Amino acid sequence: MPRSPDRPGAWRWVPDGAERSDVATLAQAAHACRGCELWHDATQVVFSAGAPDADLALVGEQPGDREDREGEPFVGPAGRVLADALDAAGLEAGSVYLTNAVKHFRHVERPERGKRRLHKTPDVAHVRACLPWLEAELAAVRPRVVVALGSTAARAVLGAPARVGELRGRVLDPPDDGAFPGAAVVVTTHPSALLRLRDRSGWDDAFAALVADLGTAARAARSA
Ligand code: URA
Ligand code: SF4
Repeated sequence: MPRSPDRPGAWRWVPDGAERSDVATLAQAAHACRGCELWHDATQVVFSAGAPDADLALVGEQPGDREDREGEPFVGPAGRVLADALDAAGLEAGSVYLTNAVKHFRHVERPERGKRRLHKTPDVAHVRACLPWLEAELAAVRPRVVVALGSTAARAVLGAPARVGELRGRVLDPPDDGAFPGAAVVVTTHPSALLRLRDRSGWDDAFAALVADLGTAARAARSA
């Protein structure tokens, strides 16, 4: 039987007191996190990017292969789709705060495929273990609207299983448990879902829907 992974959760590594409200300090502290086993096979922690005082925060799933190597979120193919969608929605990438529900790259290695590292969706247990970072950074940034990109992010932000198809594009109240005080939530698809679309019209529709949801979130942030 494989040993069950050690997953104490990130609490112990998240700074207390005044240090907690500074994103750069949180990002620095996250290098030491051993809140779950995902740090072990990853190159480095990938924390966040963008404006630490943004009105709009975007939450993805987890870093991908490129992000893991570079230490920056959304610098790979999904990040390019997201950058294009932000641009089409009239948002400057540097004006939003970008982060992920899980801060280390979960993957499997395929030696038969030249050691390619294949993305593996994080489990609910990883989302839960990593949540103290997301809570601390969103409490520090205090965005008006949090956009959850895909179902893993929606689960982290809403604190419950979430169907993107049912929830997307609406301005939702934040969860009652107070993890993200004051911020409304908009759920949309993950930009990587577009990378799997092969035909052009499917892509155009999915891209337009993502842009529309980002626009809804931006308007809600302006009017909050
Ligand atoms: N996908 C994500 O969810 N986050 C990233 O940072 C990159 C790809
Ligand atoms: Fe810590 Fe999150 Fe990385 Fe797990 S994935 S080690 S909880 S930072």
